[in-house]
Parts: sequence; C-alpha cells; structure tokens
Amino acid sequence: MKALVLSGGSGTRLRPFSYSMPKQLIPVANKPVLEHVLENIRDLGITDIGVIVGDRGEQIAEVIGDGARLGARITYIAQEEPLGLAHCVALARPFLGDDDFVMYLGDNILPDGVGDVAGRFTAHRPDAQVIVHKVPDPRAFGVAELDTGGRVVRLVEKPQDPQSDLALIGVYFFTPAIHEAVAAIEPSPRGELEITDAIQWLVTQGREVRASEYSGYWKDTGRAEDVLECNRRILAGLKPGIAGHVDAHSTLVGTVVLEAGARVVRSAIEGPVIIGAGSVVEDSRIGPGTSVGRDCVLRRSRVADSIILDRAEITGIPSLEGSLIGRGAQVGACTLEPSHHRLVVGDDTRIEVAA
Ligand code: TTP
Repeated sequence: MKALVLSGGSGTRLRPFSYSMPKQLIPVANKPVLEHVLENIRDLGITDIGVIVGDRGEQIAEVIGDGARLGARITYIAQEEPLGLAHCVALARPFLGDDDFVMYLGDNILPDGVGDVAGRFTAHRPDAQVIVHKVPDPRAFGVAELDTGGRVVRLVEKPQDPQSDLALIGVYFFTPAIHEAVAAIEPSPRGELEITDAIQWLVTQGREVRASEYSGYWKDTGRAEDVLECNRRILAGLKPGIAGHVDAHSTLVGTVVLEAGARVVRSAIEGPVIIGAGSVVEDSRIGPGTSVGRDCVLRRSRVADSIILDRAEITGIPSLEGSLIGRGAQVGACTLEPSHHRLVVGDDTRIEVAA
C-alpha cells in the first residue's frame, strides 16, 4: 500500500502565516504538522509516500527531505493550482499506479493513529473506506450517512441541514476504483474536483464504500484556534526531558521539555511546555500548553496556551494567552504611555488587546 499526503492548498484561514510558509509546516509541539502526519503513516508500515505540494513546495522539501529520516521514500508531486482533493488523486496517478493507498490531508493530526482502520481496510478491501467522527455541528464538514451495517449511503459536502452528525476525517483508504470515479466527476460550483463527489460516485455505482467511526483525538489544523488546541493536546503526551540549562532560581512543574542549548533564568515553567534549542527565558512565567521554538527570547513576560515560532522575541508582556506568534516577530511593551498600543503588523493579522 502507498500513501498520498496532500500538502498544497491555499491555507487562507491561516493567514498571515500562510503568506510566508505552507500551513503544513506550522509547528505543533515544535514539530511541523506535516511531520506528525508522516510519522503516523510510517507507523502504518507504509514507506512509499507521495506528497502533493503547491507553490511553496521547496520549503516543504527543505524541511521534510527525502523521507530517509523517517525510514520512508518521499516523492514530491507539484500541483500548480489547488484544484481540489480529487484533482490531487488524478495528478498522483502515475505515482500511485494500481496500488491501494491511504490519502491523508497534510493538515490533519490524529495522534492515536489509524492502525485499526488500516487493518480493517486490508482485511475486507471495500472499494473505499472513509473515517468518520461525531461532531456537534456537522455543517462545516463533509458528512456521511450510513446504513446499519456501516456502509456509506450518501455523502454531502457542508450540508445546511445535516442528516447525520458524522463528519469525514481527512484520512481515506482507496483501491484503484477511485481513479475511475475521479475521471467521471466534474468540478463543483466552487471550481474544485471534490473527493466527496468521487466517493459519492462510487456509492451511486453500487460499489462498496465503508465507514469506520473514530473515537480518538482528531484535529484539522485549518485555523489558528485549531493549531493551538492541537498543540495543547500533543504537549500533554510528551515525555519530559531537560537537555538545556535551568538556573537555581527557576522552577519547573509538570511535563517540561527543554532542548539542548535552551536556558531558563529566574523563571517559572508550568508544563506541559516545550522550549526549543537556543531559546532564552528570563524573569518569566511560561505555560501551561506552550511551545517555544528555537532561538526565541522571552523576558519579563507571562505566556500561556501559545505557540511562539523560531526567533520571536517577547519582552515585558504581563499576560499573553492563546497566541500564535510568527517567526522573528517582536512583541514588546509600549514605551509611550501605559494605555497606548503601537502596532507594526502584516496583512490579514489578527490582534486582540485588553480594552
Ligand atoms: P483545505 O484545508 O480544505 O484547503 P486549503 O489549504 O485551501 O485551506 P483554506 O480553506 O484555509 O484556504 O485542504 C485540506 C488539505 O489538502 C490541506 O493540507 C491542503 C491540501 N490541498 C491540496 O494539497 N490541494 C488542493 O487542491 C486542496 C484544495 C487542498
């Protein structure tokens, strides 16, 4: 079995980050989302992985490499425009050949793995196997309606009036039957070749499409809130490890990972927290639920439930929570007057200050 990871797309919901980096490289617990995905696929025993990339493919290849680090072989497949998930399947046809494959959205994180579903797919080999998860409001998702035997009878993309609360998760198992379906469908009103339409085509043709309900943790990291929630969840499962330096005036509580060369001075760290190599934390309180990237500087600040990307500096901020701070960003106290704010921010940035 092969794997196809979709790591193109436009990432409009993750602006301004997606202006300068593909959203799949945003770090969760200091590891790119895409790396979490690839490790999950490697854990299924799949080593032949195709990765669809868009116009930021070079950055992805630079960070992820050829897969050797993961014990896998990665083939990058360029998609000039994000024309839909089913378009990715069509583009990857030469790579996929007539093999069965798992298609995995490069921004979906499932830390509990999908080994059970993969086992069921290989044992019964339906034409397609989707994974569904109960959600409180299915209107933002592809929704599956099932019969009592777990067969899919209908798929609807973002229904106004959902007939089930089972949302499609971004991991799908396919036999080569999907290629026939992809060739048969037309672009949707939004101009994309939709994978739900291709799977629905199989259902309409009387082919067997099964669904497995997934009860583990799943997050589509499409928005900043999702990335932060996922970060808290993944951090909670880390093994503590102190490779950096903590001075005698600092305290560490709970799960804390301090990478080599990181320094904690006169500070309190409340895990789960990870602090990346070369970062300095001074006179600060950090955590819980916080990831600090590499070569960051945090001084006289309190930061919780946040992700700070590489080289960012935070100085003199009494309380920063639920924040995603980009690479090399500088966040500091205003020196004009206490109640003033001074902002130099990029396009489509979101800022919430105490009012
Ligand atoms: P989405 O998150 O649905 O799409 P997007 O990346 O365009 O995001 P936004 O809605 O914020 O603009 O895509 C799911 C995954 O599939 C994601 O990892 C990007 C990838 N993808 C492709 O590789 N090619 C495509 O044509 C599309 C639509 C998505």
